[in-house]
Amino acid sequence: MTEIGKQILRLSTVDSTNNYAAKLISENKIANGTVILADEQVNGRGQRMTHWQSEAGMNLTTSIVLLDLPITVSEQFRITMWSALSVIDCLRNFSIEGKIKWPNDIYVGDKKVCGMLIENAVRGSKISSSVIGIGLNVNQLDFLDLIATSIRAENDQFVPVDDVLSSLISGFTKNSALLDAYEKLKENYLNLLYRRNVESLFELENGECVTGTIEHVSDSGRLEVRINAELRCFDLKEIKLLTDNRP
Ligand code: BTN
Repeated sequence: MTEIGKQILRLSTVDSTNNYAAKLISENKIANGTVILADEQVNGRGQRMTHWQSEAGMNLTTSIVLLDLPITVSEQFRITMWSALSVIDCLRNFSIEGKIKWPNDIYVGDKKVCGMLIENAVRGSKISSSVIGIGLNVNQLDFLDLIATSIRAENDQFVPVDDVLSSLISGFTKNSALLDAYEKLKENYLNLLYRRNVESLFELENGECVTGTIEHVSDSGRLEVRINAELRCFDLKEIKLLTDNRP
């Protein structure tokens, strides 16, 4: 695995660090392992086509660029697990114990502290590039109507964003060995899964609300939920865990 963070590109304002990374990749102008960091994103993107809101200068908004990964398309969920575990390790350096809300949100208690947007490109059967976009709340205290938290909100202490970045890079570096140790990677991921084996309320793609229990995640990364005694498999657009409206 290449050295992550050997090169760091610091931007004051950008539309989205993921967009910036994709452009540099398409132009062949970025080295493997480069980390792109922005004080402010004017069009930060989230999962499910949402907008990622982050107060300028307060949080970590970053994209890690990996090229020619030794991973096939069918193994790409490994990148998600690796990223989630690396953010969890990063938070531990600040004495915060996070959980992974499938597939790759990080929660502290019932509040979101980090979201990720991982965008992979495929060549043949291999992942030719992966842009791991991470929005980690560091010093922001006011989240308007969002149920969110930050490192500062948890610890009541301001933290330099660069300290969090260093810790994040260390986490990715340490956990890169797990990419080749699938069973361990999966076990660590499942052990940290938010609301696993706890009855929860979900919204399905058709708008129906159901009660179910997360039991597992498949090798391809689908969520396995037991609903009315039947184990059903879902991908991201098919199910939403309703964290703020639990039974
Ligand atoms: C989500 O929870 O919906 C995912 C949020 C991902 C946000 C990060 S911030 C850095 C990178 N650039 C983006 O435009 N999005 C990701």
